[in-house]
Amino acid sequence: MKTWTKEERYRVLKSEEEIRPLFESIVKSDYRQHYHIQSVTGLLNDPNGFVYHGGLWHLFYQWCPWGAVHGLKYWYHTVSEDLVTWKNAGVCIRPDTLYDNKGAYSGSALPEDGEVYLYYTGNHRDENWVRKPYTCIVKLRDDGTAEKLDPLFGPNENYTEHQRDPKIIYNEENGKYYIVLGAQTSDKKGCVIIYSSDSPTEGWSFAGQLRIPGFEDFGDMWECPSIEKISGYDVLLFCPQHLTLPGRGGSIHHSGYLLGHMDWESLTFAPDNTRFHVLDFGFDSYAAECAANPSDKNKATLVAWMGLPDASYPTDDEDWSGCLTLPRELRVRDRRLIQQPIDGLRKLRGARIDLEETDILPRVCELELIMRGGDLELSLFAGENGAGGLRIAYDDAAREITVDRSQMKRRFNTEWGEERRRPLPKGLFHLRIFIDRSSVEIFVNDGDAVFSSRVFPTEGEDRIKLKGDASVRLWELGRAVEEDFAV
Ligand code: FRU
Repeated sequence: MKTWTKEERYRVLKSEEEIRPLFESIVKSDYRQHYHIQSVTGLLNDPNGFVYHGGLWHLFYQWCPWGAVHGLKYWYHTVSEDLVTWKNAGVCIRPDTLYDNKGAYSGSALPEDGEVYLYYTGNHRDENWVRKPYTCIVKLRDDGTAEKLDPLFGPNENYTEHQRDPKIIYNEENGKYYIVLGAQTSDKKGCVIIYSSDSPTEGWSFAGQLRIPGFEDFGDMWECPSIEKISGYDVLLFCPQHLTLPGRGGSIHHSGYLLGHMDWESLTFAPDNTRFHVLDFGFDSYAAECAANPSDKNKATLVAWMGLPDASYPTDDEDWSGCLTLPRELRVRDRRLIQQPIDGLRKLRGARIDLEETDILPRVCELELIMRGGDLELSLFAGENGAGGLRIAYDDAAREITVDRSQMKRRFNTEWGEERRRPLPKGLFHLRIFIDRSSVEIFVNDGDAVFSSRVFPTEGEDRIKLKGDASVRLWELGRAVEEDFAV
């Protein structure tokens, strides 16, 4: 694996020609996705600034142009009319001021009076590499470029250098704007700090630290917090770091949420029970970002990075890494978030494949299973003899579903475990599985649980094997992202 010097990681991109050869080589990769947003070159991590504006969905991602490495981060812009077909729109925010000299880090968007403002963390480092995070703002111009305004505020001296990922929230009840930031207290506890203002672009001041009874000591840093209103609940989403959770195989990065009620006057989030819910039970999901639904205030659409911090992937050797999950519509059922793939994806369905006639699994497809009861053993990307592959198993006696990628030929990030489990107290009745060339997203029981994972099948890992009493439908899916070289 390539080792990167600091100079290489933080090299400034001066012209698109510097990365054209990289683009031309990576688009030949067998693992490039057909309907997921993926890095144009180099590394993609968090989704940012997801918003509906001017008849289009805008979605940005954290981008390091040079290779599969975290270095100087830009905001790369993609747009869609329908959340299904996406176009590359080029770089939006460049780390080109003193405030963001070592990266334009994650953040969010606010549509306001016909404009869109993007809020992000300017990752400033001085000559001794000491970090100072600034909360920055830009106006999105019609041509997709960013007009930088003055930064809103600098670091809060009462917390460590880890203060980032502004989520902008307008509270209709008191007419105030809030920015929630992920942070770390001086005694190294993860938390959320909040700033407020009467205007989206100026007059910001520190309002306080979010109180969350029962979550005062839960990981040492919280990344990418946000508070969404879904089905009448407040949902606090965040990524606590450096703690382990039962059933998560030693993984130390999690993406999850609390359901409850947010009181903006006392800055208290009261969870309706003390459970931290894992957002996605798969191997690769982090830093979720939600867009408000323009016509229904009780809904939101979620996208996450199908990847993890400190992880490595087989395409690292090809100098690219990272894709986003499918957009998922959120609602609350039985006091839990339900995530469903957005409806429009059905239009990607092409030819139906009859599994009575073939056991070859297309590399780009959707599989639907309606269970009639009992156990299930499903292997995707099995070998010709039916052995190996990604194993999805439901044990009806134990009422539990398991996803196991240990039998795939290309194994990676094995130190965090190769099996993920989720209890299904009411049993398994429905599975919808989206397969792209190097990912699998499994929606269990109409979105009651989701498993998102990267997989990298090799030649010969191309069969599907099914044991269980289920009616099955399989469709090839069409392409929804083009390999456009827009920088
Ligand atoms: C999460 C994160 C954010 C940060 C960004 C930098 O993956 O570490 O906290 O803003 O990535 O790319």
